[in-house]
Amino acid sequence: MQLRLTSRCWKLLCALRHERFHTAAQHCKGRTGTEHLWLMRHLKDPYVKAAKVECYRCRSAFKLLEINKKHKILRPGLRVLDCGAAPGAWSQVAVPRVNATGTDPSSPVGFVLGVDLLHIHPLEGATFLCPADVTNPKTFQRIMELLPGGKADVILSDMAPNATGIRDLDHDRLISMCLTLLDMAPDILHPGGTLLCKIWAGSRSHWLQKRLTEEFQSTRNIKPEASRKESSEVYFLATQYRRRKSSVKQ
Ligand SMILES: C[S@@+](CC[C@H](N)C(=O)[O-])C[C@H]1O[C@@H](n2cnc3c(N)ncnc32)[C@H](O)[C@@H]1O
Repeated sequence: MQLRLTSRCWKLLCALRHERFHTAAQHCKGRTGTEHLWLMRHLKDPYVKAAKVECYRCRSAFKLLEINKKHKILRPGLRVLDCGAAPGAWSQVAVPRVNATGTDPSSPVGFVLGVDLLHIHPLEGATFLCPADVTNPKTFQRIMELLPGGKADVILSDMAPNATGIRDLDHDRLISMCLTLLDMAPDILHPGGTLLCKIWAGSRSHWLQKRLTEEFQSTRNIKPEASRKESSEVYFLATQYRRRKSSVKQ
């Protein structure tokens, strides 16, 4: 069964994040079977427990850890743009791997810029631009100003619009957001750079994949172990960006 995060599930998650179990229980009271199921599954999830133990802000950290372990997309000195960064777990993974705090004096120092519609609590070594809509041209300008040299070496997108529960509509909206990132890429992604983006699989996935294949030397589909089996979520990892003429109006 597909259990996509609806706004009520988000409220439950926020309550849990802040250890407000009573509030979470209240949210649960009188809610639908699906929401109850979602909460129960969340409380039992081994990645949720591991995130608590390892002090990650949410379980999604393990998806990036897994992808990075296999594909080595983050290394010291790289500039990372983390789109849809709240609550900040992917940035937590990126900061030490690109040496954004300069902890390793023998390695180049990287940079992490996180952007989200929601507020993100500060994180040492990361710069957050929030609340901000990545798809808004004004945000785009700020991103270029904040990135050292105006470019990123890696664009991460774990962005997800508020799900309506209408599968095709949610799929279309997420694909459009990824396409907007691709339109921004000529201006902000360094040639040879990497794009990792989440989609919800559906009828337009191949459009995005086709464009990625045209604009990057290599593209692959990834379903991390940490991604719930019943979720239609998959990640596209595109590497070795070939520069394309800018299409973003400035
Ligand atoms: C699954 S969460 C990301 C979790 C994050 N990767 C982490 O590890 O903490 C998806 C995020 O995308 C954000 N988002 C959705 N649409 C956005 C947009 N247009 N601009 C910026 N952020 C957006 C949401 O606010 C939400 O916080």
